[in-house]
Amino acid sequence: MNEDILSAEVIAEGLETRFVEWRVLYYPRVGSTMDIAREEAQRGAPEGTLIIAGEQTAGRGRLRRTWLTPTGNIALSMILYPGPIYMPYLTMLASLAVIRCVRQVTNLSPCIKWPNDVLINGRKMCGILVESGVQGNAVGYSIVGIGLNVNFRLEDFPEVQTTATALSQEMGKEVSRLAVLRSLLAEIERLYLALTGGESVYEEWREALVTLGQRVRVIAGRTVYEGIAESVTRDGSLILRQADGNRITVVAGDVTLKSEEQ
Ligand code: BTN
Repeated sequence: MNEDILSAEVIAEGLETRFVEWRVLYYPRVGSTMDIAREEAQRGAPEGTLIIAGEQTAGRGRLRRTWLTPTGNIALSMILYPGPIYMPYLTMLASLAVIRCVRQVTNLSPCIKWPNDVLINGRKMCGILVESGVQGNAVGYSIVGIGLNVNFRLEDFPEVQTTATALSQEMGKEVSRLAVLRSLLAEIERLYLALTGGESVYEEWREALVTLGQRVRVIAGRTVYEGIAESVTRDGSLILRQADGNRITVVAGDVTLKSEEQ
């Protein structure tokens, strides 16, 4: 596999920055970039500090799931201090940045499965995990974790072979991680500037959702709901119309599209 070699210098070199001063920390192999980012944030790392891994040995996803990051993929965590008003929009922002980036770098048509899985041809290509916390002096930080399957030999990982995909898989050739990273970071910055400047990211995120109008099953904690995914609220919750006509609002959960079920 042609490994385009990443390093902090190579990544930082091509980054255009207008507002966020990207500071890149590159780890060839690490447990989870989320843990390094949390330690950095608690030590007061500047906004825009990026932890990028060549490989993660203990990558984690939402709902305590494992996230695979063998070499060839992108795993990053970014430290932001958006303030409490904007924190709820970071997952929307990140999934939208991935959508824009994939459209720019490839001719593929990605979409979002609520709340923030990025799919291509019905399979998951990217996952997003946002964790927030408080520094010693009570400054709130958010860590935006993005795991993107770029050059991923799915045949080596039977456990995700039917549910996951990668840019290389969809393109039928290797894809430059550096090109993906640069486009992704530029889009994150653009969207973050827009968001904190008072613009909404909601409409574009909603447009990219494949979930709306579909019959779905939602697992939220220990409860399972079924119904039609009717709409999403501005803060990202899903509105589900159940068979009896009742509407419920789901703040966080895991969606299966009924059309995907075997
Ligand atoms: C999900 O879909 O469940 C979210 C997956 C998030 C994975 C990324 S990879 C970079 C960062 N480090 C981690 O351990 N997780 C996130």
